[in-house]
Amino acid sequence: MKGFTYRGGRLHADAVELDVLAETYGTPLYVYSATALEAAYDRFQAAFRSQGLLPLICYAMKANSNQAVVTTFAQRGAGADIVSEGELHRALAAGVAADKIVFAGVGKTAGEIRAALKAGIYRFNAESLPELETLAAVADEAGCSLPVALRINPDVDAKTHEKIATGKAENKFGVDLKILPEVLELIRQRPGLRLCGLAVHIGSQLVEIAPYRAAFACLAALYRDLKAEGWPLESLDLGGGLGISYRDETPPTPEAYAEAAAAAVAGLECDLICEPGRHLVGAAGILLAKILYVKQGSARRFLILDAAMNDLIRPTLYEAWHELLPVRQPAAGAPLEPADVVGPICESGDYFARARPLPPLAAGEAIALSHAGAYGAVMASTYNSRPPAAEVMVRGGDFSPVRPRLDYATLIARDCLPEWLRR
Ligand code: LLP
Repeated sequence: MKGFTYRGGRLHADAVELDVLAETYGTPLYVYSATALEAAYDRFQAAFRSQGLLPLICYAMKANSNQAVVTTFAQRGAGADIVSEGELHRALAAGVAADKIVFAGVGKTAGEIRAALKAGIYRFNAESLPELETLAAVADEAGCSLPVALRINPDVDAKTHEKIATGKAENKFGVDLKILPEVLELIRQRPGLRLCGLAVHIGSQLVEIAPYRAAFACLAALYRDLKAEGWPLESLDLGGGLGISYRDETPPTPEAYAEAAAAAVAGLECDLICEPGRHLVGAAGILLAKILYVKQGSARRFLILDAAMNDLIRPTLYEAWHELLPVRQPAAGAPLEPADVVGPICESGDYFARARPLPPLAAGEAIALSHAGAYGAVMASTYNSRPPAAEVMVRGGDFSPVRPRLDYATLIARDCLPEWLRR
């Protein structure tokens, strides 16, 4: 039994009743299924194996960097895709081998590059001329050369939400192919830079295979050209982005994705890197909340939850759709009435769903926001001085807290007073 299913009329995480978790840890509460995480990872890896490929799976930690989640993947041999020094420390603390860490992102600071160099990471995915200058300067200062892959901007439309599309020329990401000669010239001149590969990532929550094929083809063609010019390339990083089905999307399966990758790299004889995030964790987590009040407005019915936009910002930030699953299974044929499902924060943008058809629900009942394992807890804030949702992991019939709720004293102690106010 894995993931989130109804059993005996109650919603469970693996074999554990969510009511039990709500009582034990309180709400709002993120609940992760370890078996669902493991199954997603194993299926992704098997899809590539069946194509004869053994990519280094660098889990994109930004999707969910809870130590328990990262350790689950690290123990299966995963590497990590990091975008900050904080993620570097989290990856190492979770047992990810340093030589399986790829450092991505458009704004790496010299300090972050130094820390990653000291840790001995696999490589840096570079995104611009000025960033290459900084990488070269850090390498010179350390008297070594840095393994660098160029992230290419292939100008491909990922057909996803505009805020998470990264592969078009107007996006800040990747090296524009028009300035590639200039970039290669810089690398030639700087002994501190060792070009070892190419990378691409065109966006997140991709639900079509065609943009992948276009981006991979662009990357593979460039790889061939640069090899022919004598560049000692060894690897291709295909990025992440594989979507999940929040509602009725039909994203490519991992098998179809691996097939597209295999078709693009056929005959290249290079190492492969993948950076999946959402696909490995999205469906393996829910946000469990309690209904505080049912408020009947003149225009709408509002379900006011104890979770808010500070816990899960995706609905208001991306108009994202998360399924709402009452913990008490609704009777078959229960009448559905539209409701706005909102949080207690003082903003009209604090909502999880609007005009959502829902069965009758009462105050005190628990409700789960599904597919909240990716970009949920990691995007939480303490807005309105709300401690973010606690986190718990379930594995079969076992469960354990993986991030206790922040207490108020700790929340307040993060601030300190200037001398003149300490009287
Ligand atoms: N690699 C790079 C270079 C990335 O920028 C990203 C995500 C990934 C890999 C992982 O992508 P995934 O497999 O998770 O789609 N907060 C947004 C998603 C932002 C994605 C940012 N980059 C959301 O909640 O939808």
